[in-house]
Amino acid sequence: MIEVDFSKALSEVSALLKTNLPTLVGLEKICAILKKHFEHYDWVGFYFSDFKKQTLHLKAFSGNPVEHTEIPFGKGICGQVAVSNENFIVPDVLAQNNYLACSIDVRSEIVIPLFLEGENIGQIDIDSKKIDPFTNEDTHFLENICGLVSKTYKTSLLRL
Ligand code: SME
Repeated sequence: MIEVDFSKALSEVSALLKTNLPTLVGLEKICAILKKHFEHYDWVGFYFSDFKKQTLHLKAFSGNPVEHTEIPFGKGICGQVAVSNENFIVPDVLAQNNYLACSIDVRSEIVIPLFLEGENIGQIDIDSKKIDPFTNEDTHFLENICGLVSKTYKTSLLRL
């Protein structure tokens, strides 16, 4: 059983979002806060869409540097979320065909789209070394985080 305190992490992120930091710095700090609070979050990142190129771009992360900093729409779990506009929880990445491996240690992944005025402009992506660790609580929490990020940073998210 993984012990997690979603409300504590949410308060920390809310407080951070009130500090008027530049968007990119704020996003990086949010990644670090989430990684620090949750044992099952081994890598946390934000990707944003380039609609002209039809690609996702990694703009902020906490964890080891990864190879997939640019992902075509439709490719991998992230690329699929860019086109589906739906949450995607992968309990076991080895069971996925359309998956881009960032590290052989990663066993599961959750990707939640980030909407600005109803448009899917990016996503939060979390990798875990544990198999099947993500619950509905993670989903709701991360939807909340994406909502707060969108509400706070608004259109600056389109210019990262
Ligand atoms: N696994 C992702 C690629 C991004 S890394 O997890 C950071 C995917 O399949 O889209």
